[in-house]
Amino acid sequence: MTRCIHVSSQSPESEIIAEAAAVLKRGGIVAFPTETVYGLGANALNAAAVRSIFVAKGRPQHNPVIVHVLDVDAAKRLALEWPAAAQTLAERFWPGPLTLVLKKRSIVPDEVTSGGSTVAIRCPAHKIARALIAAAGVPLAAPSANASNRVSATTAAHVLKTLNGRIDLILDGGPADGGIESTVVDVTTRLVRILRPGLIDAHELESALHAPVGMGAETPGEDAPAPSPGMLLRHYAPTVPLEVVDDDRSRVAELAAAGLRVGWLSPIATESPAGGVVAVQMPADAHKYGKMLYRALYDLEERGIERIVVQRPPDTAEWSAIQDRLRRASATV
Ligand code: TXA
Ligand code: MG
Repeated sequence: MTRCIHVSSQSPESEIIAEAAAVLKRGGIVAFPTETVYGLGANALNAAAVRSIFVAKGRPQHNPVIVHVLDVDAAKRLALEWPAAAQTLAERFWPGPLTLVLKKRSIVPDEVTSGGSTVAIRCPAHKIARALIAAAGVPLAAPSANASNRVSATTAAHVLKTLNGRIDLILDGGPADGGIESTVVDVTTRLVRILRPGLIDAHELESALHAPVGMGAETPGEDAPAPSPGMLLRHYAPTVPLEVVDDDRSRVAELAAAGLRVGWLSPIATESPAGGVVAVQMPADAHKYGKMLYRALYDLEERGIERIVVQRPPDTAEWSAIQDRLRRASATV
């Protein structure tokens, strides 16, 4: 069984943090809240501990993990080079939901980077995450705290849902605020590139850099791992088939008429949905929508829904991370 301990997200109790840090120091793994989603942490400098994260999640070895640090100095101890773009972006967005991909130093184990020459580094803002990194005294490798290919957990209950018995400890600091993962940005190339859209959108990056940013990875070299396997299709998926449609009303009606229990995610309120339809009214604001999305998907799964229909959100930069996650969740391969 996995232990789950409540922690104050405003002033994390030091004895609980010390206990969690002790688990990390002996090579164990601990789930903790961040300002994006829950992370599943291990000592990033302990190869065996990092391997056990992959085992717990059932994560393919070719998908590298993000290393969480307290500040720029700690990032520089892991990165071989610190380009000007890294400095600019770290000054503007750290601590916060931005992950920088940098050339790695040799102290970063291959387990973290899937054998690649780069390491993804993020400096989280959440008080529990920061207290835990400080108490552990080491950088923490932490992918999202969910079984591989499942929707990221934004509450301790959702961590338990797919990882109970597979990890040592969960620090329950309440719902993770952002609800969507960090933006992963490659700063090793001349043109900064977004490898995974996230809470910080392209416009925000461009205005900090005073330069355009690219989308997606450059063509990988032969020895490189898949550039950002988070970009693989069929990632972040609920167990229930999900489709994104422009006119959800007719599709919902069609599925309901076929006798299926349908979950309907739309910003449009519905007075009386047809029988068998669970309507979830989603916020019209992108940030509020993001906070709610994964939780809504887990809730629908729990209610025995057979199909999920999502109204397509607007095609603008602030919705790009949500568009991206919905595209992956609806992919069938
Ligand atoms: O918000 C977040 O980023 C959360 C919290 C816990 O920090 N973490 C998270 O981790 O979403 P994970 O493992 O679920 O996603 C990490 C993403 C994946 O898309 C992975 O491919 C990419 O980061 N990544 C990690 N290392 C990389 C590297 N060296 N080069 C390119 N992409 C990398
Ligand atoms: Mg993940």
